[in-house]
Amino acid sequence: MPTLLLGVTGGIAAFKSVEVASRLRKLGWEVHVVMTEAATRFVTPLTFQGVSRHPVHVDQWAAGSDSGIEHIDLARGIDCFLVAPATAHTIARLAHGLADDLLTMTALGVRAPMVLAPAMNPKMLDHPATQANLRLLEARGWTLVTPAVGEMACGDVGSGRLAEVEDLVAAVEATRLRDLVGKRVLVSAGGTREPLDPVRYLGNRSSGRMGYAIAEAAAARGATVTLVSTARLPAPAGIEVVPVETAQEMHDVILARYDGQDVVVMAAAVADYRPAERYGAKRKKTTEGWTVELVPNPDILYELGQRKQHQILVGFAAETGDPLEAAKGKLARKNADLIVANDVSVPGQGFEVETNRVQIVGPQGLVADWPLLSKREVGQRLWSLIAALPQFGAGPV
Ligand SMILES: Cc1cc2nc3c(=O)[nH]c(=O)nc-3n(C[C@H](O)[C@H](O)[C@H](O)COP(=O)(O)O)c2cc1C
Repeated sequence: MPTLLLGVTGGIAAFKSVEVASRLRKLGWEVHVVMTEAATRFVTPLTFQGVSRHPVHVDQWAAGSDSGIEHIDLARGIDCFLVAPATAHTIARLAHGLADDLLTMTALGVRAPMVLAPAMNPKMLDHPATQANLRLLEARGWTLVTPAVGEMACGDVGSGRLAEVEDLVAAVEATRLRDLVGKRVLVSAGGTREPLDPVRYLGNRSSGRMGYAIAEAAAARGATVTLVSTARLPAPAGIEVVPVETAQEMHDVILARYDGQDVVVMAAAVADYRPAERYGAKRKKTTEGWTVELVPNPDILYELGQRKQHQILVGFAAETGDPLEAAKGKLARKNADLIVANDVSVPGQGFEVETNRVQIVGPQGLVADWPLLSKREVGQRLWSLIAALPQFGAGPV
């Protein structure tokens, strides 16, 4: 039986975690609860004791654990640590490694998957301090469950409401998913760089974060993952990273490895054109203009579509107009199975940010239309969609 440690902090939404605990218990989870002092002002420990059927932990000074060191016992042997709702205060403490109560002390001992569900006033959530803390936690491997948009208890409207119970339950269940074991997955990430000379290049604004999130989500679910990347982000644990620079290099690496893959996700922003001429030495500045002739790069997604056998092929369409129409056309032209479309002209989604809002198109049309989510969450949801495709079970011929 998997074990969940549920951390509850002092926000209005604490009552919703009672339902989360109850639902997860029905799904077969053993649930233990640790509350902050503030959380007990909103919901009594007795309520959580009732649904979890275990004593609830609050006081770091209370006697009663097996070893007498309760925070270590609580972190030991769990399969998931969920903090819901997570207040701005506790998010800050977790981000900075403070250990001034039982919940935060325990958090430092946890080595199991960690899920964080922030809930607070939109202004508190939007504050640079909270945002920086959330980015820190995400970089350290916490899965964030994006807060919902709506009217808050205080009357303000915006993003900050605790995510729906179903989303919290799904995020915990996702930490147990091993549905990609035995699958070989290749993901491309980042914007290609097309050199003009040894110091200058033509590039684009893709940071590679979307591709990294997709690769990490696949690895967490058991896939053997190759990440072909132009981005210089830290290499994720357990993933083979093949660094490349240009579209041609990316093309050569991906095509050479294509046959052995079950799924290829082309999240990289591959330059359509490259300079016709590449200078061997830095081109000197003159008073003249510089006209650069561009020639087309190989179309990697198109070639993968042409050579497709058993593989599932997923492409991205970063557009600045109507992304859905563009995605539908791209799916057919490239013989892809799914196209992930996003409008990169909208702030907060697409390039150089941690969040993305995507729509996904399959042969029958629109198959998913998700709200603004963290890229990590988009990656997780994308794999659930891919794993549900009829051709997913088929595997290599
Ligand atoms: C009525 C009330 C509601 C609150 N709701 C929230 C909330 O939703 N999110 C939040 O971050 N803080 C909220 N707070 C503030 C926290 O309770 C406060 O920062 C507290 O110190 C959090 O402690 P903890 O993180 O240890 O639980 C609320 C405070 C009050 C009095």
